[in-house]
Amino acid sequence: MRTDTPTVIGLDDYRPSDHLADTIHLDILLHPTATRIVAETAFRPNPAGRPGAPLVLDGDELRLCGIELDGQPLPAEAFEASPQGLTVLAPPQRPFRLRVVTEVDPTANTKLMGLYRSGGIYCTQCEADGFRRITYALDRPDVLSVYTTRIEADESEAPTLLGNGNPGEAGAIPGTGRHFAIWHDPFPKPGYLFAVVGGRLGKVSKPFTTMSGRPVEIAVHVEPGKEPRAEYALDALERSMRWDEEVFAREYDLDVFNVVAVSDFNMGAMENKGLNIFNDKYVLASPETATDSDYANIEAVIAHEYFHNWTGNRITCRDWFQLCLKEGLTVFRDQEFSSDQRSRAVHRIGEVRTLRARQFTEDAGPLAHPVRPNQFREINNFYTATVYEKGAEIVRMLKTLLGEADFAAGMTRFFETCDGTAATVEDFLDAFAAVSGRDLSDFARWYVQSGTPVVTVRTEYDPAQARYRIDLTQETPPTPGQAEKGPLVLPVALGLVSPTGAAIAADCADLRPDGVHVMAGSRASLIFENVRERPVPSLFRGFSAPVKLRLDLGDDDLLALLEHDSDPFNRWQAAQMVAMRLLVGQATSESGTPVEASLLRLALALGRVLVVESERDPAFAALLLSLPSETEIAQEIGSDVDPDAVHRAWLAARGTIGTVLAADLAAIRAATEPDGAYSPDAASAGRRALRNVALDLLASADPAFGEREADRQLAAAGNMTDRLAALAVLSRIPGDTRERALARFAEDFAGEPLVLDKWFGIQAAIPEPGTLDRIHGLTSHPAFSFTNPNRVRALVGSLALANPTQFHRADGAGYAFLADIVLMLNGSNPQVAARLLTAFSTWRTVEPGRRANAESQLKRIAREQNLSPDVSDIVARSLSEA
Ligand code: PHE
Ligand code: ZN
Repeated sequence: MRTDTPTVIGLDDYRPSDHLADTIHLDILLHPTATRIVAETAFRPNPAGRPGAPLVLDGDELRLCGIELDGQPLPAEAFEASPQGLTVLAPPQRPFRLRVVTEVDPTANTKLMGLYRSGGIYCTQCEADGFRRITYALDRPDVLSVYTTRIEADESEAPTLLGNGNPGEAGAIPGTGRHFAIWHDPFPKPGYLFAVVGGRLGKVSKPFTTMSGRPVEIAVHVEPGKEPRAEYALDALERSMRWDEEVFAREYDLDVFNVVAVSDFNMGAMENKGLNIFNDKYVLASPETATDSDYANIEAVIAHEYFHNWTGNRITCRDWFQLCLKEGLTVFRDQEFSSDQRSRAVHRIGEVRTLRARQFTEDAGPLAHPVRPNQFREINNFYTATVYEKGAEIVRMLKTLLGEADFAAGMTRFFETCDGTAATVEDFLDAFAAVSGRDLSDFARWYVQSGTPVVTVRTEYDPAQARYRIDLTQETPPTPGQAEKGPLVLPVALGLVSPTGAAIAADCADLRPDGVHVMAGSRASLIFENVRERPVPSLFRGFSAPVKLRLDLGDDDLLALLEHDSDPFNRWQAAQMVAMRLLVGQATSESGTPVEASLLRLALALGRVLVVESERDPAFAALLLSLPSETEIAQEIGSDVDPDAVHRAWLAARGTIGTVLAADLAAIRAATEPDGAYSPDAASAGRRALRNVALDLLASADPAFGEREADRQLAAAGNMTDRLAALAVLSRIPGDTRERALARFAEDFAGEPLVLDKWFGIQAAIPEPGTLDRIHGLTSHPAFSFTNPNRVRALVGSLALANPTQFHRADGAGYAFLADIVLMLNGSNPQVAARLLTAFSTWRTVEPGRRANAESQLKRIAREQNLSPDVSDIVARSLSEA
């Protein structure tokens, strides 16, 4: 066991910094292995801090090369320095300037935090606490400084030099082969938003004029030669900027906006002020190399990072407990943007699928935490589905509760009152309370209570009185450290649907005119009058609250919703519920329950709906045909899960649906033959999605046909979407065709790491016992590297998250493999290691044999010496009993 217990940081321990740093002048002398950083900071005592306190600066693996205070070298007895910090023992009680020189080795920086090199490009990552890996600093989000950055480098190595803010003086340093550029950012910001980039980069750019008429140059920088693949990102950026003006009246505030794509990046992207740095998978796209979902992701991530300019940068977080203030809100904003650019219903279904697969799973296991956690040992482990996705759901509920007008007014007030500050969740809610006159203190429980509420519904129809009654109860199961739960404020958007399709007016005193009932306590009863026929209730329309719903409806009622509900989300949801019920039944019974009849009815109902929907909204039709994932089924079962049984049930159901709908699916494929050039727009993508779901189902019903058809599609495909869909289908049909197709794909895309990631991912997801050996083999493939997070996620992450039967192998080999990788990456890249390790978080829900295997691997990790705080925190929480 490790000896140094990491310190627990608590929300209640917050106190203001003893010092402020008004300005920081940085001189960064880039060198591959010895980069010098000269930081001159104007400090002053914080009136809100403790008078006479020492100046305590954070550091992380730093080497101090010099220190001066107000121009005088600081004597050795006046300070204490280590790689992890620098303390000036008795700093002046007035403003003073501290000049600190540090040296770092960007080439040796495999953690990808602080200053590092990716494919020869110098770049930085400072959130959450990477700035302290560049220089000693008050590295906390509530200390805001105005930065001026001078960057110097060999002109041949780094012709492009970028910093935060606006460009200033730049030029060659004669006779040295070096050059410099000065950047000044007038907006005070915390160190986590600092960035520099230096390298040989190609760019695409265009002028943008803001709503008030200010000219801005927007640019995307990529590896030279890849410029055409940056056009879509640039276009998405322009649309994002326009959208934020139109919807939130937010205008961009600098003269330039730069996006840089790098190949080695721990996360998706980073919103550094005026200089966003991206994982290149969220920038680069061409029809030949990117799928429709890649295009959609690029659009969403570009928007997300851009929107942070207001929600995150102009208004930042007081401390890391407030992370959801910027992340949940910004996810909400990017979801709204994408919904406006695409089909809102289709996008909403996608959001909910992610939420259920990732956040509900997290909330049901040992890593469950509130959207605003109240303690952490390692902040890097809190960039979670809960903070991001559930955080976004809270904002969405707030909007539903308050209505459009008050929500918009509250946002405006938040922007105006908190601009330039480091704010809290309370500040955010106060803005909405102020404009609406509402007391939001009950609603605020959403931020502090973890766990997914379960809402149980009972209905009763009294034909004699023409009265219909819906009883709702809510309950949230206990989560680690939180045994007691209170009721949450739930906006329940609902309506009544006639089983035959006619509309039923909802005559109910407790329903707002917009069809929302606000449930504030643990139970609610809604009485509807003048109901002339037995209705079917359509509840939580549009997924109006992130809850699990237990409905007392039979399949016929659910299928009536599928066919007749006016709410597209609930139409999809109804089909999912019918499917889920029978999948769970199949996966948990010894002999296989008689689900065939029910499956047949579902398939026939889908067939009827498809007639209209495959024309009207192909993307929606594709979603209707997609069964709940194995992860969702396992979660629904909840305990003693046998992943093999889940997989068998899932396969069988798909086979039946494919068989019953064979003629319709074939017709769909014929009607959606690609015509003409590829376009990534939502309508074209929807047709491809439908066409490819059809292929998948047909192949499930008839693998021999599927193999031929997929092979044919692979040969004919003019874009990566169709190609990859075909390869995925083939990957699940063992045989020569598959192996030839895989080999051919690798040859065709040999020089394309992002495409090979898809290839790694497809193979790692094959649900066959041979997969683990295949993965072992692929770790020595020339294109694979353990130092690149995208490669690791593609190969190892796909096993852990997209291949339940092989990760959860009964013999424990999948667990052992993941544990080996986690231990190997623990030292070189703890963030990536910790994230992979979270795949174990469902370990208590699997059957006893697997559970024991998983536990022994977790314990093996826990016993290891020198665990990083990241890995140590996840393993400790995963094993903890509470
Ligand atoms: N702030 C980034 C985002 O969500 C995520 C991130 C966190 C990136 C930490 C890097 C490191 O937009
Ligand atoms: Zn973000």
